[in-house]
Amino acid sequence: MGMGKMITFEGGEGSGKSTQMAFLARSLERAGVDVLTTREPGGTEGAEQIRALLVHGAVDRWPPMSEALMHFAARVDHLEQNILPALDGNTWVLCDRFTDSTLAYQGGGHGLGLDEISVLQQLAIGTFRPDLTFVFDIGVEEGLARAFGRVGSEDRYERMDVDFHRRIRETFLQVARNEPERCVVIDAARGIEEVQQAVRNTVADRFGLDLGADRP
Ligand code: TMP
Repeated sequence: MGMGKMITFEGGEGSGKSTQMAFLARSLERAGVDVLTTREPGGTEGAEQIRALLVHGAVDRWPPMSEALMHFAARVDHLEQNILPALDGNTWVLCDRFTDSTLAYQGGGHGLGLDEISVLQQLAIGTFRPDLTFVFDIGVEEGLARAFGRVGSEDRYERMDVDFHRRIRETFLQVARNEPERCVVIDAARGIEEVQQAVRNTVADRFGLDLGADRP
């Protein structure tokens, strides 16, 4: 593996992780770190095409296993073409969702189970793991209310029922308990500046960087 670090941003709908990822990217760049920001499903031309199949249309358009396989199909392309070359080139990769989302959404939400998704994970990406994962945790109703306030049509998962989203939240927290070295749970119900500070302090401590004080 290369010299760059990979940090992933995970959580349910409307947790603010994408906004916080952009803030952290700016802090790292100001500290002189080369940063690639990317997302899943997506991040390459082919993976973005797969994304379109997953985020639009009827909630029941795919069997859960087909969904899981599509997420991993997109992920392998993204990892091989984009993430691994960046890390090898000493670029830090900030990724909006990664495999933990498949554990939570397809494993927990759709009920395929963590063991089954872990088998796919092993086949698809082997032992590759992010260096650090933030799990943005927020109440399901609050998160969905935030998510529905956004414009756009990429709402297939948002339209799934509230119990689906409750299972996702529980599964993310379970994953964080299973891998406490890698995962840091962030209370995402707090104000945007407070969350930003928590994220930045965690990264500064973890990797021994000076990321400065609060700036807008
Ligand atoms: P986004 O809204 O955060 O961009 O993510 C798109 C949707 O895809 C989101 O509702 C979560 C879902 N998703 C999965 O169900 N499994 C996965 O493995 C990933 C990466 C995303």
